[in-house]
Amino acid sequence: MSAASHEPSVLHEVAIDLGDRSYPIRIGTGLLGAFGTWSGLPRSAAALVVTNDTVAPLYLEALCLALRPHYATVHKVVLPDGEAHKDWQTLNRIFDGLLGHACDRKTVLFALGGGVVGDMTGFAAACYMRGVPFVQVPTTLLAQVDSSVGGKTAINHPLGKNMVGAFHQPALVVCDLDTLVTLPDREFSAGLAEVIKYGPIADMAFLDWIEAHLGELLRRESQAVAHAVRRSCEIKAWVVGQDEREAGLRAILNFGHTFGHAIEAGLGYGEWLHGEAVGCGMVMALQLSQRLGLVDAGFVERLTRLIEAAGLPVRGPALGPDRYLELMRLDKKSEAGDIRFVVIEAPGRAGVRAAPEALVRDVVRHCTA
Ligand code: NAD
Ligand code: GLY
Repeated sequence: MSAASHEPSVLHEVAIDLGDRSYPIRIGTGLLGAFGTWSGLPRSAAALVVTNDTVAPLYLEALCLALRPHYATVHKVVLPDGEAHKDWQTLNRIFDGLLGHACDRKTVLFALGGGVVGDMTGFAAACYMRGVPFVQVPTTLLAQVDSSVGGKTAINHPLGKNMVGAFHQPALVVCDLDTLVTLPDREFSAGLAEVIKYGPIADMAFLDWIEAHLGELLRRESQAVAHAVRRSCEIKAWVVGQDEREAGLRAILNFGHTFGHAIEAGLGYGEWLHGEAVGCGMVMALQLSQRLGLVDAGFVERLTRLIEAAGLPVRGPALGPDRYLELMRLDKKSEAGDIRFVVIEAPGRAGVRAAPEALVRDVVRHCTA
């Protein structure tokens, strides 16, 4: 992947079809700093860009320069970096900025950063004056293939991940692939976990493609990365278009997340990256699927090898089965205390179901260090 190009180029556009909440996902290069990228948004006197102290020195100035012709004032809020700051206290800094600058209900928020900034800015946009428009400008692979799309916004609670939030769709998502150049390898691998996820739940041809092109992806070759972002967004758009508020189908996007969220909360947020926890959580959910008689050992082995080759952990931390179960009971899919897991029902098809506790305990014992 080359350094930031100057000529903007939209390589792919994916539509999220949600009636009057529809919006495009633009995937390309040179987009973030281009004036034209930001045309056609809801009109307002002011914009407020939210980012963090890692991303700000890299991309904040370029974005603000490109926004200035569109808005009389462009305000900035720079949050401390990290999953550990995805909380009420840090969220309140966005409200401090909005109120401190006397921002009105037409103000457009821009989320510049990874999934943490995106989820918090979206939640702030959902709440401020009961809802203002916002734009996702994802700068991590994970955020480009997953978190910036679909309108889930949230902060964490010490007892559970993403437990306080709202559905609020962005007006636009702009995935500038140039921004991925500065992403650390560990973060890039974390993003690959969410890319891999789409294969077993929805598209085995995509899984074949990921296996065949993993080397190119890890080397961040432009064409491979652009395809991975596009296909991931297409699958997510297809799912969200049918089930915006997770009445059913959308839960399949949480494959690996029930175990994964337990790992994140159990270790303390930020210890493992979200994508790492999801990668390992997928291995655990595959082991559960096998024990439920849904998939064979060969399929589990195939996915486990791919997850490992993508640079992700495949063995979970030894929190003990009791602690995993305690944490997973707080999962949003739980009903009356029964944990419900996203399992692979057949290669390329996922579903949600409860599982006997003895099987879950066996999976935890089998998959943890
Ligand atoms: P993140 O937002 O913490 O970003 C990862 C790290 O990369 C951070 O240190 C960040 O500052 C840095 N960074 C961001 N862009 C960079 C760049 N271009 N160059 C260099 N460094 C850069 O983590 P993430 O993996 O992007 O997102 C994880 C979060 O997303 C979790 O909180 C998770 O719950 C959430 N999530 C939400 C959804 C959803 O549907 N809303 C889906 C998946 C994940
Ligand atoms: N990442 C899960 C979802 O968007 O539903």
